[in-house]
Amino acid sequence: MKNTLAAAVSVCLLASAQTALSYEPGDWILRAGVVTVAPNSSSDDIALPTGLVAEARVDDDTQLSIIPAYMVDANWGVELLAATPFEHNIEARGKGAIAGVSLDAGSTKHLPPTFMVQWYPRGDVDGWQPYVGFGLNYTLFFDEDVDGELVDLLGDLTGGAVDGADLDLDPSWGLAAQVGVDIPVADQWSINLGVWYIDIDTEAKITATSAGAEVTTVKFDVDIDPWVYNIGVAYRF
Ligand code: NI
Repeated sequence: MKNTLAAAVSVCLLASAQTALSYEPGDWILRAGVVTVAPNSSSDDIALPTGLVAEARVDDDTQLSIIPAYMVDANWGVELLAATPFEHNIEARGKGAIAGVSLDAGSTKHLPPTFMVQWYPRGDVDGWQPYVGFGLNYTLFFDEDVDGELVDLLGDLTGGAVDGADLDLDPSWGLAAQVGVDIPVADQWSINLGVWYIDIDTEAKITATSAGAEVTTVKFDVDIDPWVYNIGVAYRF
């Protein structure tokens, strides 16, 4: 096992040494793979009927990434993070008198296009090409759904005065930072590992309804602030 690992590492190092990356001004780099959005979420208190309080938590999701980048000169590039739509479940967790109680509150899809300006340190060492980036994210939420569990709870708490609910999440603009590395494996091809931290803050609005008519609306801020991980390949052309 140890020998196999050592052999694998030597092969990689050899491959690296023989296929040194040399991104040049005007090069395109297309990175693609799987990307996970892992929210580090927290929310304002959500006031439920009868004085109960909860908070919202958002779970992880993994999708396919496509991440074009362009080298504007030897050290500087620009990159756009794009992916198939993410879908996250939203959980409501009780606080205070109902601490420890949680239920499915709903779900949302989103697209988080993120534009980065990147710096590629260059040196005499052939091989791995690290980079850092700083940029701007826009996150658009859509297909927001309220789970039946939350509707049932609202119905119970209001003695049946609520029989439905809608969820709306505002779009978010925020800053993003990243680090990544391209590990060359063949001419033009690399393995890519990238991590972003993105500031995604949204205002959520839950409208409780009865026979389709609004009964009450609750608004609260949700900080999603995810770590985003990409593992894939990079192709230079
Ligand atoms: Ni934030």
